Amino acid sequence: MTQNSALRVFRIDGVERTDTTFRTAIVENFVTPAGKSFVDLGAADGYEGRAIAARGASRVVGVEGKESLYLQAEAAAREAGLPNHSILRADVRAIDPAQTGGTFDCAMCFGLLYHMSNPYNLLKRIAHLTDDLLLLETHIAPDPSRDALLFAKHRDALLPGLRRVTLDGEDFEGRICPHVGAHAVSKGSLDAAWSLWLTAGSLAKALTRAGFDIVHWIEEVDAATPPAVAKFGAMVGWGHANTKVFVVARVNRDRRVAFDVPSLNLESGADALRPEGRIRRRLRRLVRAAGL
Ligand SMILES: C[S@@+](CC[C@H](N)C(=O)[O-])C[C@H]1O[C@@H](n2cnc3c(N)ncnc32)[C@H](O)[C@@H]1O
Repeated sequence: MTQNSALRVFRIDGVERTDTTFRTAIVENFVTPAGKSFVDLGAADGYEGRAIAARGASRVVGVEGKESLYLQAEAAAREAGLPNHSILRADVRAIDPAQTGGTFDCAMCFGLLYHMSNPYNLLKRIAHLTDDLLLLETHIAPDPSRDALLFAKHRDALLPGLRRVTLDGEDFEGRICPHVGAHAVSKGSLDAAWSLWLTAGSLAKALTRAGFDIVHWIEEVDAATPPAVAKFGAMVGWGHANTKVFVVARVNRDRRVAFDVPSLNLESGADALRPEGRIRRRLRRLVRAAGL
């Protein structure tokens, strides 16, 4: 590897690796990559999919919407020279099997769902992209009574209070996370002003309504967690102070629903975006900074 390499380096057990990420062992715990096809949604610079391609997957397509990250992922894929790994520039909010050149044995969706204003619509689309598995890592909306226990970065990212929001005609509950920073260079949403973090209950509802059966739901690393998952889950930040969940789900083809154009009724959540909410947040920060 040269200094100008496009390949991201992960230091694992003291060894610098470009073919293994912190999540690779977690993925391998639930699915053996060899011979299977994968789509990696929100691929960033392509590392997760590349690691799976390096383990003999039949085909891995990374989907990335931001130009700069897409170009990095492309350069990395070229450098790695894996014939089974390709990168597609596309907006996942409109993704379908025609764009990805067919369906996959497994969809990986890490760090992406909580950047959506309509996460339900994306889950419905994923149910049509995968023929079998979904591996999902996402944030869930913490109950506001737990805010004091959270990492400050998550607590401060969210507007106070739970909101009811209607997505594609179905009611869900969650918290609103306003976008911070320039869209083109952040690792977040492509262009949305805010995203919706579903509560655990609403995420389960969205998955089920989209056509998935939930096989594993991991919020805490505990004695029942498989060792590889525990070790690397801790590294990617699972645990009680965090708001992450890792879900393994299986699509039930008979229960999939149409992934029509996303619709979003903000009537019950719109007050979250009014200036009052932002002013309250700023005030809370000032009060905290002043140590009051
Ligand atoms: C927080 S990063 C997660 C990267 C990686 N999957 C991980 O978990 O380490 C979110 C990624 O999703 C991409 N993204 C966000 N919204 C997207 C959209 N609508 N379509 C395609 N990519 C999107 C971002 O550009 C970014 O690369």
